[in-house]
Amino acid sequence: MRPTGRALALILVAAAWLSSSFAARAAAPAPVVGLHGMVVAAERNAAQAGLAMLQAGGNAIDAAVATSFALGVTEPYHSGLGGGGFLLIRLASGEVIALDARETAPAGASRDMFVADGVANDASRTGPLAVATPSLLAGLALALERYGTKSLAEVMAPAIELAAGGFPISLRHVRVLEAWKATGLAERFPETAAIQLPPAGLPIAPGWKLVQPQLAATLRAIAREGPDVFFRGRIGRAIAADVQRRGGVLAASDLASYRPILREPVRGNYRGLEVLSFPPPSSGGVALVEMLNILEGFELRPLGAGSSASIHRIAESMKLAFADRAAYLGDPDFVTVPTAQLVAKDYAAKLRARMLPSRWHRAPWTWDRDEVAIRVAGPGLGELPLPDHDTGREAPGPSDRQGGSTTHFSVTDAAGNAVATTQTVNLLFGSGITVPGTGIVLNDEMDDFSVAPNQPNAFGLVDVHGTNAVAPGKRPLSSMTPTLVLENGKLRMVAGSPGGPRIISTVLLALLNTIDFGMDASEAIAAPRFHQQWAPDELSIEAGVPADVQDALRRRGHRVKVAERNWSSAQVIVIDPKTGWHLGATDPRTDGLAVGY
Ligand code: DON
Repeated sequence: MRPTGRALALILVAAAWLSSSFAARAAAPAPVVGLHGMVVAAERNAAQAGLAMLQAGGNAIDAAVATSFALGVTEPYHSGLGGGGFLLIRLASGEVIALDARETAPAGASRDMFVADGVANDASRTGPLAVATPSLLAGLALALERYGTKSLAEVMAPAIELAAGGFPISLRHVRVLEAWKATGLAERFPETAAIQLPPAGLPIAPGWKLVQPQLAATLRAIAREGPDVFFRGRIGRAIAADVQRRGGVLAASDLASYRPILREPVRGNYRGLEVLSFPPPSSGGVALVEMLNILEGFELRPLGAGSSASIHRIAESMKLAFADRAAYLGDPDFVTVPTAQLVAKDYAAKLRARMLPSRWHRAPWTWDRDEVAIRVAGPGLGELPLPDHDTGREAPGPSDRQGGSTTHFSVTDAAGNAVATTQTVNLLFGSGITVPGTGIVLNDEMDDFSVAPNQPNAFGLVDVHGTNAVAPGKRPLSSMTPTLVLENGKLRMVAGSPGGPRIISTVLLALLNTIDFGMDASEAIAAPRFHQQWAPDELSIEAGVPADVQDALRRRGHRVKVAERNWSSAQVIVIDPKTGWHLGATDPRTDGLAVGY
């Protein structure tokens, strides 16, 4: 039977609707299913290390610590003993702990250390002054001691084996090494190149076996003697001595006085679900909840995932939250951070009321800050100008170190424990420095501070009032956003990603795609991404956003910029509320692994 005119029209409308929703649903493999637990990580060997702990009767915390140590070996350019991280831990009892193992500025650091005369303009990113006190190990040891069931030696065993025995590098690993080589840093840090790159004459190719005997020896010493050998013993002394020899300020006493901090997570709720994320010194949790609060006032689902109407609203909410990031956030032990006000529903309602439904608008708006009820001690907060980036000082551009360096993994177990961990050395191979004899690559987390008001860091992030200025012992403001979603008190989702400030928008989109647009875990992280961080004022989009949608966004006034490459590497677990199955998804942009059991 031939369709009538009316039926044909309906079919066409339905087809158009289907095709637009399919456009937003990027081709994605089905999520991996685990009946008891799941580990999802950006590197395969590390995911397997976590799975091995679960299968050996360990809990999610044991698995997370094993995965973390292994990632430090298999992705030495992203994270490891020389860096820091955040662990968001949910215990089966329902308690949620934000374990802050963020690096700190050395006691010898000072507010103007990177703008002083004679200091190289990339000193916050490369070399000895860029190194903040390495701290990840303190967080892992604390997590294991308080919430794990296995010994340090047991959870470190896979990492030690991977370092000592080596592993064949993947295609993504090859691409990272090529990108790092292209920066010229391999010549500047030959001790790092000697370990991390194939010997002269051999190509950088998949399958080359990376063996790290010195790192293996360091890990063995920690497994045998405990973290003290790192923080108060010979490894810490070797780290400090090497940094100082190169002209840095990190001292053995900085390592000895380092303490991880157990914090209250940031809590929000979105369309009836509870969202728990990382508090300051991360900006991630505050910004995520602020954006969700703004967006809760819109019906996103009927607008369709990936439509210009939904992208517009979501991008405007990002812009507002990032403006507040620049204005208010920093280490809460050093500056007053108005977290409660920023994540309040009534504050979001006021921001939402100022948004234009169909047009880009300069943010923040001209408002009376008292009216939105944010008052902080410290810098006078008037209207915030969009910072202009001309500070008279030539700063290396945000893109000089392509591909930042961070990794996220998510773990669940049968008992209801879950861990979301994001860990980092900041940019690829951090400061570039490998401490001789230890295999430890040192971070360049000092660049996450603002070196001067309104001067963008490597990710283009600015700090309007100096709340994120360098101070001795202070933690640099982070964007890492390990996140949990609960429904009726039960775990629904574990999520996170690397990507600098794009972490926050990546996690937001993973949540919205799941909660509002009904995508499964894989579809939610495969869908094309977009990002707006207030400064610079541009809407960065992945090339997968269709041209007509790009045009529509331009017509709404957005400065649309199609990114040269896709970004982030989200690692997500969704728990199916009906079956209790653990559904894992690793980002198709990278070559990680979701493994369940
Ligand atoms: O803590 C932060 O926000 C940054 N150090 C994270 C850097 C990052 O994610 C780079 N990754 N692609």
